[in-house]
Amino acid sequence: MKIAVAGAGGGVGKIVTHALKRSHQIRGIDRDPSAEGIAHEWVTADLSAHDQTLEALKGVDVVVNLAGLNGPIPLPEWEAHNTNVVISYNVLSAAAELGIRRVVQASSVNAIGLAWSRSPQFDYFPVDLKHRSRTEDGYSLSKFIQELQADSVTRRHDGLSVVSLRLHAVLKDVTQAQIALEHLGPSWAINGLFGYCTEGSVADAVERACSASIIGHEILWIVESETLVDEDSRTLAARYYPDVPFAASMTGRSSFFDTSRTREVLGWTPSTEGTPQPGLITL
Ligand SMILES: NC(=O)c1ccc[n+]([C@@H]2O[C@H](COP(=O)([O-])OP(=O)(O)OC[C@H]3O[C@@H](n4cnc5c(N)ncnc54)[C@H](O)[C@@H]3O)[C@@H](O)[C@H]2O)c1
Repeated sequence: MKIAVAGAGGGVGKIVTHALKRSHQIRGIDRDPSAEGIAHEWVTADLSAHDQTLEALKGVDVVVNLAGLNGPIPLPEWEAHNTNVVISYNVLSAAAELGIRRVVQASSVNAIGLAWSRSPQFDYFPVDLKHRSRTEDGYSLSKFIQELQADSVTRRHDGLSVVSLRLHAVLKDVTQAQIALEHLGPSWAINGLFGYCTEGSVADAVERACSASIIGHEILWIVESETLVDEDSRTLAARYYPDVPFAASMTGRSSFFDTSRTREVLGWTPSTEGTPQPGLITL
C-alpha cells in the first residue's frame, strides 16, 4: 500500500515510518523537513493549511495522521488545541475529498480527561470505550474533538473509515518513565492511571489499523496490559481512587484500561504481554 505518514518527523512519526516502510511505500509529510531521508518520498507541508494538505495527500491509499502538538506543556493550551483540531479536520476532509479509504489518527488516552486534569474523575475501573469524557485542558479537548470530527466525516462519506488510536505515553523503556516522573511529579503516573505503551505496541497497532476490516469510525485504546508501577492495581486504586468502583475484575498489576475492542478489531496484543518488564517505577 502507499501510505502517507503525516508528522513523520516527530517522535511517534519516526517510529511508525521505520516500521511501515518494511512492507509499504511511505510518503513522509511534515512541516519540518529535517527527517526527509526517513521515507521513500517526502512532502514538506503545513497541514494547518487545507490546500497544502490536499496536495500532500494526493495519490495515497491510506493516511496515518501523527502531526500536531503533543501535550499542553510547555505550550499555551489554545495553541495545542487550535493547531490539533485544524490539522485533524484538514486531514480527514482532504482524505474524503480525495477518495482515500482509511485514515488512522493518533488520539490519546487524554481524550477522556486524564494526565493533564487537575484531579481526574472516573466512573469505574477499568475504563472502557463507554467511559465519559471530562477534559479540562486544551490539548485533551483537541483529542476528544478529533474523535468527534472522525464520527462526523465518516457519517457523511461512506467510503471512508477512520481508526482513532488512543495512545498512552509512548515509552522506549522504563528510564523514560523515571524522567517523566522527575519532571512532572507522581501526578503524571497517578492522573494517567499508571499506564503507558511501548514503541513496538504503537507501530504494530498502526500497521494493523491501516488494513483492518472496519466500517465508519473505531476508537481503540493502545495501552500495555500491566501498569508501570511496582504495586498491585487494586492497592493503587484503593490509595488514589478509593471511591471508584470496579466494573470488571482487576488482578495483579493489570491495566486500568480495557483494550478488549482493540484486540478484537485489530488482532493486536500489547508487546509486553507475557514478558517480564525490565523495570518498574515506585510512587
Ligand atoms: N508521544 C506520546 O507519548 C503520545 C501519547 C499520546 C498521543 N500522542 C499523539 O501522537 C501524535 C504524535 O505525537 P509525537 O510525540 O510524535 O509528537 P511530536 O511533537 O514529536 O511530532 C509531531 C510532528 O508533527 C509535526 N507538525 C506539527 N504541526 C504541523 C503542521 N502544521 N503541519 C505539518 N506537520 C506538523 C511536527 O513538526 C512534528 O514532527 C500527536 O497527535 C500526539 O497527540 C503522542
